[in-house]
Parts: sequence; C-alpha cells; structure tokens
Amino acid sequence: MARELTRVGVVGLGAMGAGIAQLAVEAGFETVGREVELGRAEAARDRIAHFLTRKVEKGQLDTGARDAAVARLRITTDLADLGDCDVVIEAAFEELAVKHELFRELERVVAGDALLATNTSALSVTEIASVLERPERAVGMHFFNPAPLMPLVEIVRAERTAEDVFERAYELGERLGKTPVRCADTPGFVVNRVLIPLLNDCIRVLDEARVTPEDLDAGMKNGAGWPMGPCALLDLVGADVHVHASEALYEKLREPRMAPPARLVRMVAAGKLGRKTGEGFYTYD
Ligand code: 3HC
Repeated sequence: MARELTRVGVVGLGAMGAGIAQLAVEAGFETVGREVELGRAEAARDRIAHFLTRKVEKGQLDTGARDAAVARLRITTDLADLGDCDVVIEAAFEELAVKHELFRELERVVAGDALLATNTSALSVTEIASVLERPERAVGMHFFNPAPLMPLVEIVRAERTAEDVFERAYELGERLGKTPVRCADTPGFVVNRVLIPLLNDCIRVLDEARVTPEDLDAGMKNGAGWPMGPCALLDLVGADVHVHASEALYEKLREPRMAPPARLVRMVAAGKLGRKTGEGFYTYD
C-alpha cells in the first residue's frame, strides 16, 4: 500500500518555497523547510508567520490555529533532516545542475517510496528526474505566485512518472487547498506556455504604443479583466525570474515571442527586479 502523506519537505524557501510551506502547515502537514543559510530559512518562517497573523487580524484564522501552523514548520539547512518526509517539493533555483544535485542527494536521504516533486516552471521534469535511480517517483507540482493565494497547481507527468505517484501528487494538491490540473511535461506546461509570451508581448507594446506602465496596466485590467496589470505582475514575479523562464522556453520552442524583450533584459542588468529590489516598473517601500 502506498504510504500516507503526512510529512512534507520543501527545499528552497524563496517566494515560492515559503508560499508552499505556508500551504502545507495550514493544511495540517508536519513540514520541514530547507534553505542553504539559516538566516534565509528564518526570514521565510517570519514571512509565513506574518501572513498567518494578517489572517488572524482579518478574522480568517484564530490565534491557536496560527500558532499550531507555525509550530508545524521545522527549518533546517541540512537536507538529511528531510529523511522522514513522505513527499519533498523542490522549489530551489531554476538551474538544471542545481536541481540534479538536489534530486540525487534527496534520493539518498528519503524513504524508497517517498515522492519527489519539483516546482520548476520552465525546465523539463523528465530531465530533472533523469538523475534518479527511480525516476518514476518524480512528478511536477507547479504552483503560481503568490502560492498561498493562487488556486492553481499544475500536476506534471514526466516521461517516467508512475501512475500512482501522479495521482498522489494530484491528491496532495487538493489537500493543500488547490485546484490541480493534470498535464504532460511540455515546455511551459499549460499556463506559462501561454502567459510568458503574452507578458512578453505586453512589454513590447510598452515601446511600440508608447504607453506608460500605469496605462498599460490600466488597459489590461479594465479592458481584459486581468486581476493585476502585466507590469505589476512582472514586478511581483521578478524580472529576473521571468527573463530566465523566457530564455528557457525560447531555447526549447524557438518561437520569437518566447524570447525576453530587450527592455526586461536591461532591467535585470540594472538590478530593477521588481518588488524584491524595491524597483521594477514601479517603486516599492
Ligand atoms: N503570501 C501569502 N499571503 C499573501 C501574499 C503572499 N505572497 N501576498 C499577499 N498575501 C495575503 C496578504 O495578507 C493580503 O492581505 P493584506 O494586504 O490585508 O495583508 C492578502 O493576501 C490579500 O492580498 P491582496 O489584497 O493583495 O489580494 P488581492 O485580492 O488584491 O489579490 C492576487 C492578489 C491574488 C495576487 C491577485 O492580484 C492576482 O490574482 N494577481 C495575478 C497573479 C498571477 O497572475 N500570478 C501568476 C504569476 S505567473 C507564475 O507564478 C508562474 C511562475 O512559474 C513564475
């Protein structure tokens, strides 16, 4: 019988990993979060506690539930501390070599029937899993930013993903309160295959139509019903993250619209990455 999923590991506690860890502790899972430096792990835990406290302040959560959720998160810098996890969701840097090293190491420390999931947004899950002795245990679980708020998770079937692993990842997505969709391991999966070139088009229109970021955002919000404008969204996601994902998809698909617009590449070179650096299309305190 397949092992019950009770303990979740999250590797990488940046914006995505911290959001996933937040979902896990809120859903009642004992959770182990791993970062390369303790200071970064502590910052992620503080961020999770902050968002849960905001929920208390807004009457969406009681203090006992918040304290219990925060207590369910254990942070570490040591991958070996994920040894007793039933599933590990990797949300580390989007570089194949980094993910390969982590997957190799994770397979050494977790139980034989533990699931290994990756939150990659633009790399191939099949390629990431190729270093595993048992690649059938790997699956993609692609969350959207901000993970605690965005309902979707794409459950990505790699070439060798076992059927029960795929379905258990789907069920985990549901237990985390998400709306999962099943898809194949194609470049950009479902949403990024559409959203990345669309955002690139938006940025090209900035120069072509000589429109300001404010007006472009107002246009897409009021004329296309987007919840936030493309420039605000890119500031949220991070210009560096978006450019990196665009390059990865362009490399695979060779569609000109996938290539990152020069304006965004310049912003990355100048360190204007968006919210995280205090300046992108907009400035932030
Ligand atoms: N983590 C946890 N909680 C958060 C949070 C975060 N990162 N950010 C905000 N919250 C909480 C806050 O407590 C906030 O309340 P507060 O302001 O009172 O403290 C609460 O959520 C609600 O926040 P907002 O008032 O900002 O919520 P909105 O109703 O305005 O919705 C939104 C925000 C859900 C982000 C909405 O604007 C939206 O749907 N935007 C589009 C986002 C999107 O398209 N994301 C996909 C990006 S692409 C991607 O992720 C792919 C990847 O591969 C790069």
